[in-house]
Amino acid sequence: MGGFDPDSPVDAFRCGIWRLNIAAEQQGRGYGRFAVEAVCAEASHRGQRRVTVLWVPHVHGPADFYLRLGFRPTGERIQGQILGELALT
Ligand SMILES: CC(C)(COP(=O)(O)OP(=O)(O)OC[C@H]1O[C@@H](n2cnc3c(N)ncnc32)[C@H](O)[C@@H]1OP(=O)(O)O)[C@@H](O)C(=O)NCCC(=O)NCCS
Repeated sequence: MGGFDPDSPVDAFRCGIWRLNIAAEQQGRGYGRFAVEAVCAEASHRGQRRVTVLWVPHVHGPADFYLRLGFRPTGERIQGQILGELALT
């Protein structure tokens, strides 16, 4: 899901990706990248300059996927989840 709530008092909830989940048998085929890039394109269209995502730190978690797509941890955690951000160009 793409979440767009530019007036949210919580920075991490203003423009971001929520609960991206690709079916297990379809992973590794580019669908995740496509979904993230689609949300980023919509964010740009809406005049946003930054996209965020939250992920659970786990050995089998999605951290490397988001890092591969250019997201970087902000250093902040929300309810134990790592906050990542991507600056849109
Ligand atoms: C994480 C997830 C969304 C990735 O989706 P995907 O369709 O499998 O990923 P893609 O095929 O689009 O991969 C995009 C790039 O990330 C890389 N990548 C994907 N998963 C990776 C991983 N676990 N570790 C390292 N690189 C990874 C791919 O190699 C690919 O690189 P490339 O385009 O340069 O060749 C998917 O595996 C998933 O739904 N996982 C379970 C649920 C989950 O953790 N969701 C995230 C909630 S925040």
